[in-house]
Amino acid sequence: MPLTPELARTLCAMPKAELHLHIEGTLEPELIFRLAERNRVALPYPSVQALRDAYAFTDLQSFLDIYYAGASVLLTEDDFYDMTRAYMQRAAADNIRHAEIFFDPQTHTSRGVSMATVVNGIERALAEAQARDGITSRLILCFLRHLPEDDALQTLETALPYFNSHGHRLVGVGLDSSEQGHPPNKFARVFERCRALGLRIVAHAGEEGPPEYIHEALDMLRVERVDHGVRAIEDEALLARLAREKIALTVCPLSNVRLKVFDHMGQHTLHQLLKRGLAVTINSDDPAYFGGYLNDNFLATFDALDMTLDDAYTMARNSFEASFIDDAEKRRLVGELEQFRAAQAQ
Ligand code: ADE
Ligand code: ZN
Repeated sequence: MPLTPELARTLCAMPKAELHLHIEGTLEPELIFRLAERNRVALPYPSVQALRDAYAFTDLQSFLDIYYAGASVLLTEDDFYDMTRAYMQRAAADNIRHAEIFFDPQTHTSRGVSMATVVNGIERALAEAQARDGITSRLILCFLRHLPEDDALQTLETALPYFNSHGHRLVGVGLDSSEQGHPPNKFARVFERCRALGLRIVAHAGEEGPPEYIHEALDMLRVERVDHGVRAIEDEALLARLAREKIALTVCPLSNVRLKVFDHMGQHTLHQLLKRGLAVTINSDDPAYFGGYLNDNFLATFDALDMTLDDAYTMARNSFEASFIDDAEKRRLVGELEQFRAAQAQ
């Protein structure tokens, strides 16, 4: 089905959840420069345009180098608040009803920023967005896989007071950063401890790394969702397992094209994964770096792949069902989606 104006309008207006979003990846160049000035941080780029021009990535690592440089402007609780507030405004505009947001505390604690500064700033903006726009949210702490497991264990200890405690949205852990050469098994001990603590578990796997990393994430980390996971398409047994075990994939189409996982959107395997019965969702990953927020990802995907409106409803429903909210909240959000669908059909 071609991307008609009517289909585009429906995709944009559809209630949906975002399950794969790095909050540091929402820092737009203008905000990076504003925070650099406010905090007197020197940036290796002379202007907003020069920074934007540097966003010509060849692979995941070439992106991560710039992404960590951009995050270096974040110092105070207000910085984390301002960043998160800007994203939640975008989320509201995209009709996101629920967001599960990654953050990378090691990127900040290694620069002397406290866990409290990071979490409190982000949570303040999330509470405000819930009060203002009714968008619910959860936070997921990601361990940086290029660092040693002992760093991750230390980070977990520092974050313990914020997990699942009264009023906090921090419910789970993930694994991100440079995938190749840093397999999930490197983090078996820290994830075992997270499981014992009753935390929700996800991990990036099969973005650039091989299908074996997805098997490992399932077997050793016991992930409940796989972030990216697009390389599962290379492994028939893995496809069958992901479908059977109803493990959702949080796929990020614009990210995959920008980081050269696929040469262009027409080659993206999202539709094939969906047709194989996998619980695929569409997400934006690092929207300030990859050319678009969640609705831009829906539009680019539907423009390039031969998918139907039914596929969009399936993925929106998947996004609510694969989320870490309780069953009553899920029913409410799926109900909202069904109401929207019924209203469109009239
Ligand atoms: N950190 C931020 N975005 C990431 C991605 N797409 N893969 C791995 N680590 C990341
Ligand atoms: Zn990611």
